Amino acid sequence: MQLLQLAQEELTRSNADKKHPFRYFVLATLGDYPEVRTVVSRKVTQDLSVVFFTDTRSPKVAQIEDKARVSALYYHPKKKLQVRIKGTATLISASDPTYTQFLHQAQQSSLKDYTTQKAPGSILEAIDDTLTQEKVYFSPIKITPAIVEVLQLGREQHLRSAYYKQEDTWVEKKLVP
Ligand SMILES: Cc1cc2nc3c(=O)[nH]c(=O)nc-3n(C[C@H](O)[C@H](O)[C@H](O)COP(=O)(O)O)c2cc1C
Repeated sequence: MQLLQLAQEELTRSNADKKHPFRYFVLATLGDYPEVRTVVSRKVTQDLSVVFFTDTRSPKVAQIEDKARVSALYYHPKKKLQVRIKGTATLISASDPTYTQFLHQAQQSSLKDYTTQKAPGSILEAIDDTLTQEKVYFSPIKITPAIVEVLQLGREQHLRSAYYKQEDTWVEKKLVP
C-alpha cells in the first residue's frame, strides 16, 4: 500500500474515533518565532484538508492572517507513523455553508472554550478573567494541503515519501528515510 493511502486511512479513522492518536495534531504557524501547539483535529477530508476550531482572538489566528502557510504534524505511536501536512490555512467565515455544521459540532462539546471574557493568552489577573459571556469567538479553520510527507518506521526498514498536490492528483517522491 502506498504511504499516502496509509496516512489517509488513519486520518479518516480519526474522524470517528475520539481515542485515535490522530485526533490531535501539532499545528505550526509563523510568528516572530515558529509557533507550535496541540489542537484537536475536527475533520479530515479524503483530499486531506484538515479543519480545527479555535478562538478568533487567539494569537494563532493573527499569525495565520499575516502568513497563511502552516504545518500540521500527526504521530501514531503504535503504528510508528508520522504524517506532516504543509498547506494554507483559511478562516471559515459565518457565510460559508460549512460554518453552521462546525458550529453545531462545537456546540456538542467545546463551545464554552470560545466564550471567555478575556482573549486566550491574556495575562490572568483575576479569577473572573476565565469567566464566560454571551459572545462566541468561534472560528473553524481549514488547512488546504500542498505537500504531505509520510514516514513509516519499521523493524526491517523505514519508508518515507513526499506527495505534492498537482491539479487534483498527488505526485509521489520517495525519500531516503
Ligand atoms: C490536548 C490539547 C488539545 C487542544 N486543542 C485545541 C484546539 O482544538 N483549538 C485550540 O485553539 N487550542 C487547543 N489547545 C490549546 C492550544 O494548544 C494552545 O495552548 C492555545 O490554542 C493557544 O495557542 P496560541 O496562543 O498559539 O493561539 C489544545 C491543547 C491541548 C493540550
